[in-house]
Amino acid sequence: MVSPASAAAAQDRHLRGAGKQEYFSGEGDLITVRPGNHMWETNFVPDLGSIELKSWGDRGAGGTNIMFVLADGTMHAHISEMPVGTYKKGHRHGPGLHVLFVHGSGYTLLWYYGDKDYKRIEWKHGVVFAPPDEMFHQHFDTSQRPARYLALGFGLMLVYALSVAGYLAFVLYGYRAVQGRVLILGWTFIAAIATGMLGVWITVINFLYLLLQIAMAVEAVGVAQGARAVARFIRAEVREIAGVFLVVVALVVAATLASALAWSGVGLIAFVPLVGLAVFPLQLAALLVRGLAFEYLGLTALGAYLTLYQGHASQRAAALDGARIATPLGHTA
Ligand SMILES: [Fe+2]
Repeated sequence: MVSPASAAAAQDRHLRGAGKQEYFSGEGDLITVRPGNHMWETNFVPDLGSIELKSWGDRGAGGTNIMFVLADGTMHAHISEMPVGTYKKGHRHGPGLHVLFVHGSGYTLLWYYGDKDYKRIEWKHGVVFAPPDEMFHQHFDTSQRPARYLALGFGLMLVYALSVAGYLAFVLYGYRAVQGRVLILGWTFIAAIATGMLGVWITVINFLYLLLQIAMAVEAVGVAQGARAVARFIRAEVREIAGVFLVVVALVVAATLASALAWSGVGLIAFVPLVGLAVFPLQLAALLVRGLAFEYLGLTALGAYLTLYQGHASQRAAALDGARIATPLGHTA
């Protein structure tokens, strides 16, 4: 039987042996973007309570926050803090964000649009809750110290995981269900279509995610407003966007076919005595060219969408200019 302490010591020795000690030092890079979006890129946060936050007054007086980019993952994480006796402005967003209170204590009011009354949750260190989809919530610090909380969500990773899980369930359970009833050949054909559809679905998700990033960067807004901006953009410029999308997909397919041809063509040399030795460096060169081609394609697509979006944004700004009225509550959610 191995005790937890000796298991931890063995793990520690193993990591030190592998030269991975720096993994746990908590070092990282601060990427300054704009208030509310400054990012701390790291793979380990040793102390949630003491990590330095940056000022973000838009969401509540004296508020601070930092976004995390954790080990290149797609998981969303950020920390926010509000000073003693203040609150975070009420807001709402999609489901899945978990709020974990680090220090301070107080309460949170939750309500749906049109509700007559609030739900109230008391919190202190260690309390976790997940505000449901589009439910408004507003945190109040009633303690003697600033209140700090960590928000965690799966982000794009959850969409990928659910898509692949749905696909696997369909193929595996479907295969079992049709056994003995339909020709397996017919089922193989359906499964192949499902595989193609998974590819199309992931492409669409990545495409929408790219547009969302562009909208958020150009408009300097959060996810919810960014999503609304993307919906407006697609409605207004559907033909142009579809045109760019189709050209990009065609180029990716052509580049994939060309690289597969080059790869197998170079592979044939392996059968020629002596000259065959050149196959390894040649395939390496093919990989490099392929990587550069895809990188270039990606950047070209980004540039094309960005140009389209900026055109749309400036047209919209010009159209709105004449019709703008001042609102007494001119802040965002
Ligand atoms: Fe929230």
